[in-house]
Amino acid sequence: MGRAMIIGAGGVASVVVHKCCQNSEVFEEIMIASRTKSKCDALKEKLKDSKTRITTAQVDADCLEELVALIKDYEPDIVINVALPYQDLTIMDACLATGTNYMDTANYEPLDTAKFEYKWQWAYRDRFRQAGITALLGSGFDPGVTGVFCAYAAKHHFDEIEYIDILDCNGGDHGYPFATNFNPEINIREVTAKGSYWEDGHWVETEPMEIKREYDFEGVGKKDMYLLHHEEIESLALNIKGIKRIRFFMTFGESYLTHLRCLQNVGMTSIEPIDYEGKKIVPLQFLKAVLPDPATLGPRTVGKTNIGCIFKGKKDGKDKTYYLYNICDHQECYKEVGSQAISYTTGVPAMIGAMMVMTGKWRKPGVYNIEEFDPDPFMEALNRFGLPWKESFDPVLVD
Ligand SMILES: NC(=O)c1ccc[n+]([C@@H]2O[C@H](COP(=O)([O-])OP(=O)(O)OC[C@H]3O[C@@H](n4cnc5c(N)ncnc54)[C@H](OP(=O)(O)O)[C@@H]3O)[C@@H](O)[C@H]2O)c1
Repeated sequence: MGRAMIIGAGGVASVVVHKCCQNSEVFEEIMIASRTKSKCDALKEKLKDSKTRITTAQVDADCLEELVALIKDYEPDIVINVALPYQDLTIMDACLATGTNYMDTANYEPLDTAKFEYKWQWAYRDRFRQAGITALLGSGFDPGVTGVFCAYAAKHHFDEIEYIDILDCNGGDHGYPFATNFNPEINIREVTAKGSYWEDGHWVETEPMEIKREYDFEGVGKKDMYLLHHEEIESLALNIKGIKRIRFFMTFGESYLTHLRCLQNVGMTSIEPIDYEGKKIVPLQFLKAVLPDPATLGPRTVGKTNIGCIFKGKKDGKDKTYYLYNICDHQECYKEVGSQAISYTTGVPAMIGAMMVMTGKWRKPGVYNIEEFDPDPFMEALNRFGLPWKESFDPVLVD
């Protein structure tokens, strides 16, 4: 079918590469291009027996010229951005300059402010439309599958969805007192930011971790979860017509929260540069350097994740509730692709999103969030590629 360029060679990229190689009819050729070429080469070595032809390259994805030269040379059908959110706009610029389709799993964030908004990427809509290329934003799990779940519920189960609660539970245990399951810098920026949710046409802001609930998750058990701002609620608030409230909750264990509080109190999570021995360093970036690399957590993480959406609304004039979710086992993921479930649940939908664009099922010029496409082929592919979903028509609701 074609060729894809994968930018980044971290935890998520590793799963994307494995999954592309399991789907070599679509991904005949892939290039893994990242800052540290040895990581790309190591991935290529792991998958050397695959039918998919793999090449590797060094690239600084903050440098437009380097990206444009590499894309022109390789001529991919799509660029899969699984580097960091800071690189989103440069990579989108390179796609525009070369007429190449684009996909990512996290919205752009400026390096110096922890702000999660789509406005920077939505500003590319006209240019992508005019160039005749597709940008698919947020094709991980959340954002990603959660948006597909919303589109599926709207298409098949409701005349009107009034309430959505997205619940992200990680019941995994890696045995460290403190570690993050994906890039520590991005993760800590996300969870230390103020919370917010959408209600009756406007945003309600909360203090970080101010709203706490307990939920009994299938496959995991009872967990405390906290309301966070999360990027998909911004696009879903616009794309799910008539929505009255949408919230996002994530589970955190006591040890994680206690360590985080302590690190915050001593200033280690700050993104303000400080002087250290005549050099400027960002405390959070230094902290990332001393924390376990999420890509190494696979062999030691046990337990399950359970991520999904609870919907409440109307069908044929009657009240209806519906819960769509996926349960994923850390050790099963490790056995299959050598990664823990957080990388797995992000990397599988990233491969599927790229497949949707490459096969033309989801190709339309412009910049789109995932819920703007037909969810059915994506839902089928989730079952086929390792993230089967479950549904309940009588879920316990979150108050
Ligand atoms: N939607 C979701 O559900 C979801 C969930 C989890 C994560 N994510 C997103 O997935 C992405 C990847 O996360 P991860 O955990 O895989 O992170 P990671 O392990 O830190 O990997 C990031 C990769 O990007 C590379 N990189 C960073 N800056 C670069 C640059 N300027 N040029 C080229 N390559 C660069 C890094 O290179 P080095 O190897 O040299 O450091 C690394 O290989 C992040 O954007 C994260 O927010 C999304």
